[in-house]
Amino acid sequence: MKMILAIIQQELAAGFARAGYDEKYAVATVSNRPDLCEYQCNGAMAAKKEYGKAPREIAQDIVNALADSEVFSEVSVAGPGFINLKIADAKLAEYLSIMAEDPELSVSPVYAKRKILIDYGGPNVAKPLHVGHLRSAIIGESLKRMGRRLGHEVLGDIHLGDWGLQMGLIMTELQERKPELPYFDDSFTGEYPAEAPFTIGELEEIYPAASARSKEDEEYRARALEATHMLQEGKRGYRALWEHIINVSVTDLKKNYEKLDVSFDLWKSESDAQPYIPDMVQKMKDDGYAYMDQGALVVDVAREDDTKEVPPCILLKSDGASLYTTTDLATLVERMKLFAPDEVLYVVDKRQEMHFEQVFRCARKTGIVPDDVRLTFLGFGTMNGKDGKPFKTREGGVMRLETLIADINQEMYQKIVENRSVRDKDADDTARIVGLSALKYGDLSNQASKDYIFDIDRFTSFEGNTGPYILYTIVRIKSILSRYQEELAAGAGCMDAESSAAAGAGSADNTQSFAAVLPAASDVEKTLQLQLSRYNEAYMGAFSDRAPHRLCAYIYELSNNFNSFYHATKILSEENQEQKRAWISLLELTRKVLEDAIDGLGFSAPERM
Ligand code: ARG
Repeated sequence: MKMILAIIQQELAAGFARAGYDEKYAVATVSNRPDLCEYQCNGAMAAKKEYGKAPREIAQDIVNALADSEVFSEVSVAGPGFINLKIADAKLAEYLSIMAEDPELSVSPVYAKRKILIDYGGPNVAKPLHVGHLRSAIIGESLKRMGRRLGHEVLGDIHLGDWGLQMGLIMTELQERKPELPYFDDSFTGEYPAEAPFTIGELEEIYPAASARSKEDEEYRARALEATHMLQEGKRGYRALWEHIINVSVTDLKKNYEKLDVSFDLWKSESDAQPYIPDMVQKMKDDGYAYMDQGALVVDVAREDDTKEVPPCILLKSDGASLYTTTDLATLVERMKLFAPDEVLYVVDKRQEMHFEQVFRCARKTGIVPDDVRLTFLGFGTMNGKDGKPFKTREGGVMRLETLIADINQEMYQKIVENRSVRDKDADDTARIVGLSALKYGDLSNQASKDYIFDIDRFTSFEGNTGPYILYTIVRIKSILSRYQEELAAGAGCMDAESSAAAGAGSADNTQSFAAVLPAASDVEKTLQLQLSRYNEAYMGAFSDRAPHRLCAYIYELSNNFNSFYHATKILSEENQEQKRAWISLLELTRKVLEDAIDGLGFSAPERM
């Protein structure tokens, strides 16, 4: 379905042409003075030079040419030659009537369908899932859903961190604690046990302990490095142990991501890329890109116009070990080979920006990724506590994601019970649904690259720019709609079958049939209608900028517009049945738009709150 802006644009262009001006000047934008008009055009000013006429005169010619327009109810000249535009109420209502019957709600699939691989989540096995990984999961999931909604083919890849020093640390610590395990016995040739020698709880305790010790104990650290190396070399016992670590971790991760309603199509990991490294490195050498520098193998990626220093990519350290950069390059080799995407989008902490700058440059330079494949780094800021410092537990430790979710749900539960119309047995489920909206919306409504303050009181509030407020608006609409349905059903009950079938709108099975949206009866209604008509523009704009916060801003405004309309309008007691049905259609459309948008953001609304 066409954008309302495109319809306006087209009509404006026809006006320019009729008045004898080049259509290229007919550019309409949303008005920055909504008190005066809805859209505006500054083209008369731009056309001044070409036509040697005063902009006000040109603008007046356009006004005259659009005098009979059905799209605009008012076209006027303002200030030095702005053209102010008001869209005709009937046109807007017609647009919404079509939109309301469109299963896509005006958001049509894009013509240029792309295959987009999103690298998000990025947890490291054996380390507890903590808040640092939350943003990636939330933002990545939303972009995946939005991209799909627009018709793109999107693959979400978790890209597990399973190859670093953390693995060696765990093995070293485990060997300290349970030296009798067969995994550490080099003479062992039998089959290793199928059962992991630890639980997730133990695993999560082992890692921090090992990490802490390695910082103080040189010898211990050396052993961990050696263990990492041996694992990477394929030592049998270590491999078997490593597989246990991954299995136990992945089971736990899946449970956690499920709670967040985040899912991945691919559970690939850093280790999957390792087999691609030798050939990749060899080719970089053969092609003359990689050279030895102080014992390390590097590729230069600096450019003359760089404003800050971009260090060379280190592929192999002097001991022959590969690095995070090498893994990410090899992962690109693998991705091009297995999936041939048109774009790879990384949703990662913005502190890794330089790393990705190097990886992208190196991948292009060495031909791993051709020029027509887009590589995008979407770096996000830190989630801070109220003190403005990175979010911590009260004890100062890293907050586990599970704990954070539980805290929010608890807070939400309390608020819901206080507020309550819902029976208690639903309160738990409702708290979970609303809690997730608080968490996700609290994150997504901020521009990703900015740091933000995690404020549980604010995020869980039913008022203001929050997830619960959006859900509250949806629930409010649902409740009006169901009261309307009850009224209809009661009305139909009074009639006998025959007359009820003939009664049209009064009959029960006619409740599904759609009444056209009528021209706005008030300013608040027009504002609501205008905002609804901009849905496709908002959705596509948000996705093409890879900016879920723009979709949040759209639904926040839509919710505000709806609530103003609701407070000013007596919907269910309206006497004029045609008007009433038209409002019900408008409500239904608002509900659908809000629910469709929050699905793109990664959460949903309960039936009641
Ligand atoms: N595991 C990494 C970390 O915790 C994030 C991975 C991001 N993705 C990537 N392809 N490097 O920092």
